[in-house]
Amino acid sequence: MRNELKIFSGQAHVSLAEDICKKLDLSLGVAHISRFSNDNLFVSIEESVRDADVFVVQPSCYPVDTGLMELLLLIDALKRASAGRISAVVPYYPYARSDKKDQPRIPITARLVGDLLTTAGAQRIVTIDLHAPQIQGFFSIPVDHLTAIPILLDYFKKKEFYDLVVVSPDAGGAKLAELYSRNLNAPYAILDKRRCGIDRAQVRNVIGDVRDRDLLIIDDEISTAGSLRESVGVLKEHGARDIYVGCTHPIFSGSIKENLFQLDIVELVVTNTVPVSQDLQDKVKVLSVASLLAEAIKRIHSGGSISQLFHQETGGMM
Ligand code: R5P
Repeated sequence: MRNELKIFSGQAHVSLAEDICKKLDLSLGVAHISRFSNDNLFVSIEESVRDADVFVVQPSCYPVDTGLMELLLLIDALKRASAGRISAVVPYYPYARSDKKDQPRIPITARLVGDLLTTAGAQRIVTIDLHAPQIQGFFSIPVDHLTAIPILLDYFKKKEFYDLVVVSPDAGGAKLAELYSRNLNAPYAILDKRRCGIDRAQVRNVIGDVRDRDLLIIDDEISTAGSLRESVGVLKEHGARDIYVGCTHPIFSGSIKENLFQLDIVELVVTNTVPVSQDLQDKVKVLSVASLLAEAIKRIHSGGSISQLFHQETGGMM
């Protein structure tokens, strides 16, 4: 067992950090974050962290770069204050979709973020449902890759579907759809989706039978909901009945409002890895990941197993 467990938060999602603390019967660590008149960020840790086992909660959400910088400064301040171990808890990983060099002369920003976190002093990363699990390989420190699948599954298992088919919105999501279909005793279908520009996607084909059946579309994140709108349109053209949608990260950016209000779906279920703005909360069902993160932090602190948290649903896939 390490020394005292402490949890700090950047400004990205304070309510999530507070909920985690409540579950662990802890008070949120006190840190001061402000900005000088020259726009430089300033951070100070307002309590002793010497030898403590410290977790800093900061998912990536708007404004992304400010949030990332806050996280780096908090970690650096904790390191210089002699924290015993520093874990960065990033429920939604920054720049997760910039994970490969698929055009000439572009950066691999997800890798760069990994280097920045490690250089700042993070000794462990805790994250949820990475866009590509291979991002773990961008680190040479431990990465605890958690999943919100059991939370979403629990919710959908209570629904009464008519001849359910689980739908992957693209070929890359097939493994995830298969996992849901196994747990919900339903077949799965795959959409042949291609990106045709930034924030634009086109569905060319539906692989599988969706006619006269209820559908559950599963994705890791929804950003503008442009892909979702296109997918729902095509699935309806193919004769789908009621459509439900589940996703871990409600990034909700750009034309999200316009797209969300026009979606012909019964329900959109997300988690709170990032905050959902008040005006969209009546359009989506938000499930909390606070218990999941609290349990993971407790186990990491005491040297318990993380994989046992998910083994039943994922069969060790994560
Ligand atoms: C893409 O690979 C992801 O899994 C999501 O489908 C994508 O992030 C959704 O983006 P948008 O909501 O902007 O279409």
